[in-house]
Order: sequence, then structure tokens, then C-alpha cells
Amino acid sequence: MLPQPARETRVFPGYKALYYDQVTSTNDVAKEIARNSQEENLVIIARTQTHGRGRHGRQWVSPRGGIWLSILLRPRTTQKVTARLTLITASAVIKAIQNTLGLEAEVKWPNDILLNGKKLCGILTETSTKEDVADYVIIGIGINANIDLDSFPATFQNSLTTLKHELSREIDSEKLITNLLQNFEQRYKRLQQGEWDALRIEWKSQARFLGKQVEVTSFAEILAGKALDIDECGALIIRQENGELKKIAAGDVKLRTIPTSG
Ligand code: BTN
Repeated sequence: MLPQPARETRVFPGYKALYYDQVTSTNDVAKEIARNSQEENLVIIARTQTHGRGRHGRQWVSPRGGIWLSILLRPRTTQKVTARLTLITASAVIKAIQNTLGLEAEVKWPNDILLNGKKLCGILTETSTKEDVADYVIIGIGINANIDLDSFPATFQNSLTTLKHELSREIDSEKLITNLLQNFEQRYKRLQQGEWDALRIEWKSQARFLGKQVEVTSFAEILAGKALDIDECGALIIRQENGELKKIAAGDVKLRTIPTSG
């Protein structure tokens, strides 16, 4: 049984979408559906979320005008592939923003999407595994689309941006969602066909922080160094000041400003 009421149902290429006016979190609705059915390739879209969630249990402020959606997949594969799903999602979002709006966004590891250095979109992937194989994967995508900056709490206003703010006009959200799902579908197929290397190269081409000095907060640790690459599973590889390479599985990246002399 799907939670009711869905505002409408639409079929995008490869996906069925359920629209809601207000939910707690589209990831939670998708999870409930995953646990109680065999549904897959399903997209949950809501106009607003009362308990939108970000990474590390953070709150995700989700006012009306934003694109808040979750994709429910059943990849029937190992953890390694599911870790890569987040990265290809970021590539699909960046491509959709470029295709439909002509804007050049970038990815900041692991999966923040920035526009003009400010956060525009976040991705929250949640997986449930049974005997080492993913039972379901939910990819939550939040894009600050048709929202005025002052709809966000003042504490966030310096670090994030919205498409409306950047373009000084409202965008066609349906068009962006359709293109995003098409891009995602193409990359998901390629991932399943073993094209990870090419997909990783695409992700790296969208990651302008690579090659720069960064500071990574990973659990209680702060690590500094030059961001070099991502590995097979999407872990970040940095070269620390002592020359040692370090792989970081989870964390938050900040660009470091190194004081210049003179
Ligand atoms: C992050 O950057 O911390 C990830 C944010 C993910 C937000 C999206 S909005 C749609 C989906 N539902 C949620 O509750 N979270 C994700």
C-alpha cells in the first residue's frame, strides 16, 4: 500500500512518480514503500517536507518552491555499486542544470552541488542490505529551485544559494526533474553495464576542488591536504602535508585558504 494521498502520478522515462503536497521526508515515504512492497524505479516528489533530512542527521530546510524528491531503486548488487550511485546522481543533477538552464554547477565531495561556490543541492543516499546485497536504495535529492534566499533561516543564507536567486527568475521545475531523471537513468544503466571508469572521469571533471588544498572533517578528526582523487568506492584521497596519502570514506570538505606572503 502506498501512502495516500498522492497529488498525481506521472510516468517519466523509466520511472513512475508520485507527487505529494507535504510529507515528513520523501526519503521516509520511499522507505515505507520499499519496506511494504516490491516497488522500484519509483520517484517520490513533495512540495514541502516537515522533517527534511540531510547527511549526518542534519536538518534539511525544505520550503515550497524547492525540488524535494527521492528515487527508490533495487539494484540487486553489492555495496560497492550502491556507493557509486551517489556519485552518478551528482553528475546527473549537474548535467540537468547545465542542459535546462545553461548554468555550470560543480560537485564538492561527497555529494554537495555548488553554484558560484554556494550550496544549491544535497544528496542523501540510504541503503538497506540483505546478505551483502542491497535490498533497496533510496537516493534523496534536494535542489533549492524556486525559493527566495530569505525563506531560509539567516544562519544558512551565506552558505547556500537557489536557482531563483542566481537567475533572478523562476525556473521550470518539471523540465529540470525530467532531464535529471533521464540523465540519471542513462548513468545508472552505464553503471550496471560496467562503465564505472568513464562515470568516475565525468564526476572528476565536475569536481573543481580536486587539485586544491582542502580541510576534511571526518567524524571527530580534521585532516588537511591536497585533494587528489576518489577511489573505487568513492572515498576521497588526499595527500597530507607530510606526503602521506589518506583515504577518507565520509566527511565534509572545506577549501583551505593558504595565507600568501607579502
Ligand atoms: C545533504 O546535503 O546533507 C543531503 C540533503 C538531502 C536532502 C534531500 S531533499 C529530498 C530527500 N528527503 C530528505 O529528507 N532528504 C533528501
